Amino acid sequence: MLAGKTIILGVSSSIAAYKACEIVSRLKKLGADVWVVMTRSATQLITPQTFRTLSCNPVLVDLFAPEFSAMPVPHIALAKMADLLIIAPATANVIGKLAHGIGDDALTTLALSITAPKLIAPAMNCEMWRNPIVRKNVSAIGGSASGGKKLKELKWRIIGPEAGHLACGDDDIGRMSEPEEIIEATIKLFAEKFDLEGKNILITAGGTREAIDPVRYISNRSSGKMGYALARAARARGAKVTLVSGPTYLPVPADVEMIKVESAAEMMEAVLAKQKDADAIVMAAAVGDFTRNDELPITNDEIKLKKIKRNNNKLSLTLKSTQDILQIIAQQKDRKNKILVGFALETDDLIKNAKAKLKAKDLDLIVANEPATFDSDEIKFSLINRAGKIDNLPKQTKTTAANLILDRVQAML
Ligand SMILES: Cc1cc2nc3c(=O)[nH]c(=O)nc-3n(C[C@H](O)[C@H](O)[C@H](O)COP(=O)(O)O)c2cc1C
Repeated sequence: MLAGKTIILGVSSSIAAYKACEIVSRLKKLGADVWVVMTRSATQLITPQTFRTLSCNPVLVDLFAPEFSAMPVPHIALAKMADLLIIAPATANVIGKLAHGIGDDALTTLALSITAPKLIAPAMNCEMWRNPIVRKNVSAIGGSASGGKKLKELKWRIIGPEAGHLACGDDDIGRMSEPEEIIEATIKLFAEKFDLEGKNILITAGGTREAIDPVRYISNRSSGKMGYALARAARARGAKVTLVSGPTYLPVPADVEMIKVESAAEMMEAVLAKQKDADAIVMAAAVGDFTRNDELPITNDEIKLKKIKRNNNKLSLTLKSTQDILQIIAQQKDRKNKILVGFALETDDLIKNAKAKLKAKDLDLIVANEPATFDSDEIKFSLINRAGKIDNLPKQTKTTAANLILDRVQAML
């Protein structure tokens, strides 16, 4: 996903420097060419050798570095190569220097020379972060995380800091954003090509709940993380996103139309109401296959309102299949005007079953995955297209996977 991109990672001397190792390794996994530039103080907390090994490139600490003999002026050479500069962690000191145009070491001199976009992840003690001088410096280099005109002009993005447990023992603001979030922001930054602009994408997420009585329900282990990652990624790429979600504990993605549902029937109703305007429908939800059988006396009106009592230590429930949402969409008369993506989760014969589902439901693409994906931040999956071509993909974050799936959708659109 980041193949062909050169990313410079600046590391300054916050205790969060150890998290920069994870950032390098994730960027490398995504295909980026990564070069690390450290402040002299940062080398007190973590060795350049660690970053040299992880990045497979020399690490710049001194402006006049002999190991960069192939680059007579290393900071300019790196500045010219860079598609992005990330400073993570960024100390109060580095932020102060950036705000005042000071370049007294390799990192700050490089930062002054770079014209590529820049992303900064501050990390510091809560009182340092609240210090009015630091606040002033932060707004001088970019302002708040939500952006603004000045931020855009200066090409600085700020991510974090977050509230949480700090190394100094306080539970307060100042913790560097997690590597996962920094990678997500990086991908977003590169994805600012808005290749889905003007497209309507309908996404379903999470599991559904089928009521047994007013208190209990039948559901599944879906967390909704994949569908929410798809919604965030599609929105970041400029699409107008409608997210139909079963119950989850996930935060609502910014700037999407959110429709919360509970049962399979409610999800069906919401999807049918919204599908007409969609250019692509991605059905990541784990829709319950079975619901209570209404013919049974157990579900007559009286019992629907009453909690079932544990009288005989035994309860038999008869279930019936829910309606198949994908099948019904596939039968709509404007089906040909939209891209339809389904998910198949199987314990046995994954590819065989996924292929059968792709065909039966007239899908353009199916994402085949296994139960290990439930509630995980990562997914190992195969993509099968209409022609039956299978791409087996390695385990990756759901954010990365979402962008890969959207690349396919975009190509088909
Ligand atoms: C163990 C330790 C942890 C530190 N953590 C931070 C930090 O999280 N944020 C910060 O702004 N300064 C932190 N400092 C202070 C900076 O290291 C110090 O201001 C240093 O001069 C900054 O240099 P640099 O910005 O060139 O890396 C820490 C210092 C020590 C000794």
